[in-house]
Amino acid sequence: MIILIGGEKGGTGKSTLATNMAALRAMNGHDVLLIDADKQGTSSIWSQVRDEGEITPRITCVQKFGKNLAKDTLDLANRYEDIVIDAGGRDSLELRYAMGVAHHMYIPVQPTQFDLWALQNIDSLIEQIEPINSELKAHVVITRSSTNPSVSDTEEALGIISEFERMTILNTTIKERVAYQRCVRLGCSVIEVNPIDKKASNEITNLYKEIYHAN
Ligand SMILES: Nc1ncnc2c1ncn2[C@@H]1O[C@H](COP(=O)(O)OP(=O)(O)OP(=O)(O)O)[C@@H](O)[C@H]1O
Ligand SMILES: [Mg+2]
Repeated sequence: MIILIGGEKGGTGKSTLATNMAALRAMNGHDVLLIDADKQGTSSIWSQVRDEGEITPRITCVQKFGKNLAKDTLDLANRYEDIVIDAGGRDSLELRYAMGVAHHMYIPVQPTQFDLWALQNIDSLIEQIEPINSELKAHVVITRSSTNPSVSDTEEALGIISEFERMTILNTTIKERVAYQRCVRLGCSVIEVNPIDKKASNEITNLYKEIYHAN
């Protein structure tokens, strides 16, 4: 299965989710390839740091840009059970090509009005890609939401997002937690960091289960 973590907004947690999903998929015994389609190279650096730290399972990460992205991804899909694509935070060629070949696209959205506006553009991108890839299913993941129970940002965002008929909303919400920042720097997933942040680990495990329909 080819999954794409993408969106038009920067800093929403795309690379954080892509690297965590790749790690959890590999830890669950699957042969996974991470494709870094963002020239910033966050996922590639993460996998290098992971290699240098000899953290297992090893996650192979390749960078793919431009028009070869779609063709190469389809070729690689014959060799790997699972592909996770990390696409950059803008309406790039890479995002469009990746949307052309992915089975599922996950769009991390921060529950602020700004991100919700960007979602309008993604909605029209999905509409444009539909004739090319009718299999693509798009889902929103709320990320970096406040851990403060008195802040009702997520509920408000959910109300607005539910009006976009081309996207479903995942049940799992990723909150703003320091553990997510640490894990990317260390080349691991939040469930591999010591000491473990149980809340972050539960969130990412729930997200994994939702994405891969795992138990
Ligand atoms: N849930 C979270 N809680 C706290 N910090 C987070 C969370 N998700 C991401 N971050 C931090 O926010 C920054 C941006 O995250 P990340 O690189 O994953 O976003 P991105 O969407 O890939 O950004 P870009 O658009 O630049 O590629 C990083 O410093 C990361 O550690
Ligand atoms: Mg990124």
